[in-house]
Amino acid sequence: MAVLQAIHLTLASAILLVMLAERGQASDNTKNCKLIEESQSERKVLSRLEPLTNRTFSVEVESDTDKYKYQFQVCGKAGKISEGGLVQINGKGNEVLIGKYTVVEAFGGSDWVMLVYRNGTAYGKHCGGEDRKAIIMISCERGLAAGPLSVVVEERDKLNNCFYLFEIDSSAVCPPIPSQLSVGSILLIVGSSCLAVYLIGGFLYQRLVVGAKGVEQFPNYSFWQEIGNLSADGCDFVCRSRGSREEPPTYRGVASEPLGEEPEERDDHLLPM
Ligand SMILES: *[C@@H]1O[C@H](CO)[C@@H](O)[C@H](O)[C@H]1NC(C)=O
Ligand SMILES: *[C@@H]1O[C@H](CO)[C@@H](O)[C@H](O)[C@H]1NC(C)=O
Repeated sequence: MAVLQAIHLTLASAILLVMLAERGQASDNTKNCKLIEESQSERKVLSRLEPLTNRTFSVEVESDTDKYKYQFQVCGKAGKISEGGLVQINGKGNEVLIGKYTVVEAFGGSDWVMLVYRNGTAYGKHCGGEDRKAIIMISCERGLAAGPLSVVVEERDKLNNCFYLFEIDSSAVCPPIPSQLSVGSILLIVGSSCLAVYLIGGFLYQRLVVGAKGVEQFPNYSFWQEIGNLSADGCDFVCRSRGSREEPPTYRGVASEPLGEEPEERDDHLLPM
């Protein structure tokens, strides 16, 4: 009974460990991003942003003449415009496309990721009439799932190569903290916990349910006793040199009678009385 319980418990903890290990990367929304030049390293950088997908970040900015709102999604539609990953919405509700999540570049370092959305609406008079583009800098901040979006600069007074620069702090791009425990020690801890639960649970079961006393309170006492006896037998067989003890004594019976008895008996009648 207790053995079965222990096995169930061990299985349950193993399943729990596997589930914990598999948690984390369930979705793959970053696949919606289309890289300008498909590459494995850029895909890897993008996949670090998976926890930030499927939500809209927004920030409001007030200029002298108008009020703007920027909306941003990681690899998703942020406004009404199709493929619009980052859009600007003015006070009247008109949307301007800043960058598409279908024309993307992604760069990353140990604790940051830079996302570039291109092919926004062309500038009018500014910047030589080129397409707008957005650069979003995501920096590591431990303990913060996702900070607010903020505007760093709207660079549009150059002749060309203008951009909108944004930033977000998030733990998603932080380097993983190296685990202090090796796999071996985790297994050891799990193993000894199971043993402890088995011993304590079995002890209580034997004592309270079966009503055992003394050493018989140990779970599966007779089973372990049997194991103990079997191993003792095995050890006895292997370790003891039983053979020499059963050898017949070599000199037994050869000199059982003293040799000098007969002459003494023969001399008896020669003694003077
Ligand atoms: C995105 O989030 C919504 C709820 O906000 C949820 O219903 C939906 O399943 C999510 N989609 C993905 C692909 O994660
Ligand atoms: C993005 O813009 C470039 C040049 O402006 C153009 O060649 C390309 O086809 C555009 N891509 C998309 C997906 O709109």
